[in-house]
Amino acid sequence: MRVRDSGMPDEAYWESLFDPAGALDGFPFLRDSTKTSRLLELGCGYGTFTVELAQRFAGEVDTVDIDPEMVARTRKRLSARDLKNASVFQGNFVADDLPDRCRDYDAVVLFHIMHLEEPEELIRRILPRIVPGGVLAFLHWRPDRETPRGPDLGIRPTLGDYQRWSRQFALSQPVVITLHNCPHHFAVQCQKSELS
Ligand SMILES: C[S@@+](CC[C@H](N)C(=O)[O-])C[C@H]1O[C@@H](n2cnc3c(N)ncnc32)[C@H](O)[C@@H]1O
Repeated sequence: MRVRDSGMPDEAYWESLFDPAGALDGFPFLRDSTKTSRLLELGCGYGTFTVELAQRFAGEVDTVDIDPEMVARTRKRLSARDLKNASVFQGNFVADDLPDRCRDYDAVVLFHIMHLEEPEELIRRILPRIVPGGVLAFLHWRPDRETPRGPDLGIRPTLGDYQRWSRQFALSQPVVITLHNCPHHFAVQCQKSELS
C-alpha cells in the first residue's frame, strides 16, 4: 500500500519549497560520516535527498520507492553525477517488501512519509534493519501551521508523536534539528538503543 497523500507535484516546484542541502546540514549524524557506512532512505521521490546524501557521504546509500517513475528518475540523477555509492530499488516499505540486502544500516532517513496510516508499524518493521545505536532521521512539513504543500495538519507528525514513538521503541529522546532555508519543515533525530 502507498503512503496516503504521497503523490508528488512537479519536480521543480517540489524542490523550490525547501533546500535539501540546508536541511541535511542540520543533522548531527551526517556531520561525522565516518560513523555511518550504510544508510537507507525510505521513499526517494525524485531523488532530491538521495543525490545530496550520496554526494556528502562516502558509504553506501540505499533507497526504496514504490513508484517506478521515481525509481527511474532517481537512478538517472545519480548516474548523471556519476554517484556509484547509491542504489535505488523498487519496493514497498509499508509491506516490508525490501531487498535482502536492506539490513545493518547505521542510519535510516524517513523524509515526508511519517503521515502514513500506521507510523508505529513502520518503525517496528524498520528497527531490525538498523544496527544498535543507529540513527532514525525524520523530516516533514511542520505540523503547527499551514505550508505551501503537505498532508492535512491533523496527520503530520508532531514532537509529541516522536516522543511517544521514542518511548514505545526504547529510542533516545528526539533531538530537534535546526534546518537551514527550510521554513516549512520540522525534523528530529533519534537513536536506536545500543543494547537492542
Ligand atoms: C512525499 S514523497 C517524498 C520523497 C522524498 N523522501 C523527499 O522527501 O523528497 C513520498 C515518496 O514515497 C513513495 N512511497 C509511497 N508509499 C510507498 C511505499 N509503500 N513504499 C515505498 N515507497 C512509497 C512515493 O512514491 C513518493 O516517491
